[in-house]
Amino acid sequence: MSKLASGAYLFDSEFKSFPVSSDKPLSERAAAKGLLYGTACRRHNLCSDLNYARAIARECSILVPEWELKWAASYPPLRPTPDTFNFTLADSMADFAQTYRMQFRGHTLLWHLSLPSWFAETVTAQNAEGYLIKHIKTVVKRYAGRIHSWDVVNEAVELKDGRIDGLRKSPWLDLLGPDYIDLAFRVASAADPKALLVYNDYGLDYDTPEADKKRQAILNLLESLKARGTPIHAFGLQGHLGGRSGLSSDRLRNFLSQIASLGLKILVTELDVVGPKLPLPNNLYDRLIAITYEDYLNVVLDEPAVIAVLTWGLSDRYTWLSEFAPRKDGSPVRPLPLDANMNRKLAWNAIARAFDNAPNRM
Ligand code: XIL
Repeated sequence: MSKLASGAYLFDSEFKSFPVSSDKPLSERAAAKGLLYGTACRRHNLCSDLNYARAIARECSILVPEWELKWAASYPPLRPTPDTFNFTLADSMADFAQTYRMQFRGHTLLWHLSLPSWFAETVTAQNAEGYLIKHIKTVVKRYAGRIHSWDVVNEAVELKDGRIDGLRKSPWLDLLGPDYIDLAFRVASAADPKALLVYNDYGLDYDTPEADKKRQAILNLLESLKARGTPIHAFGLQGHLGGRSGLSSDRLRNFLSQIASLGLKILVTELDVVGPKLPLPNNLYDRLIAITYEDYLNVVLDEPAVIAVLTWGLSDRYTWLSEFAPRKDGSPVRPLPLDANMNRKLAWNAIARAFDNAPNRM
């Protein structure tokens, strides 16, 4: 907070002061095919690093806050107390997106991994429905008319939890039962009838028995939501890739086309690639990552229901993978389209080429 107030960061007015060059950025290549390209980012990086902000404005046509719309991931958090909301950070990101004519998307209204410390001692089976409704109504209404899409429910499937329906044993499930998912979509739809409402999940990309089971569980979930008239419009394929072999082109294709046949759109919401585990020189390491991007996007973009691709970060300078999946030899991870100095890498070329080769959806 003090950092924000102290002037250590660039302020929103300065976002407006730089020109955006347009030497065929990813956003334009995507747009030529009727697609959106964008990234997740954290507000403090956007505000403190002009080169980064500039790169985002240049390359992206859609932006999603990595932390600021979760209940409790940023500082200050969106939900500081049971009765209050703090929209300062998310509002400023929405303004940034608007200034640079980017769409703005929301991530995420319900996620078991982003619950404030007050949640467990405050929310009970008796009042949980009220908390869910108040949160979704308040947050969705705030951005109504300014939001492209909302990840209404994130990662609600976990087969290891052993339920027949495949649902994760999350606090929301414990408190409200499986209907919490339908309720969340209905409340979001009432609060903003125009937003594209998305169910978002991971672990669906590879040719493994676990991925097979998870794909099936998700199809079952989406089918049952559609069958009961839940206002769900799209599926979010996170796409955190392992950079290993075993990409399941046929199964992935088939999965995406089954989702499309339910009448749902598809967004690739969190694409990035964990590099190979072996220590490798950067040119080889980068090449393997780039190939992973291109192979994946070639499969995914063949599905006409796919309308957007977002990477989970734009530059290697800021990526959750440096903590979540560091390299064993201690050298920096390089999972994103731009390197740490905002230069385009092989991964950028791979994504650009995949957009250039994608079928036109217009
Ligand atoms: C991650 C962020 O990138 C991290 O900085 C944070 O600490 C944890 O969450 N799936 C999701 C995202 O849906 O919200 C996660 O983001 C990455 C995995």
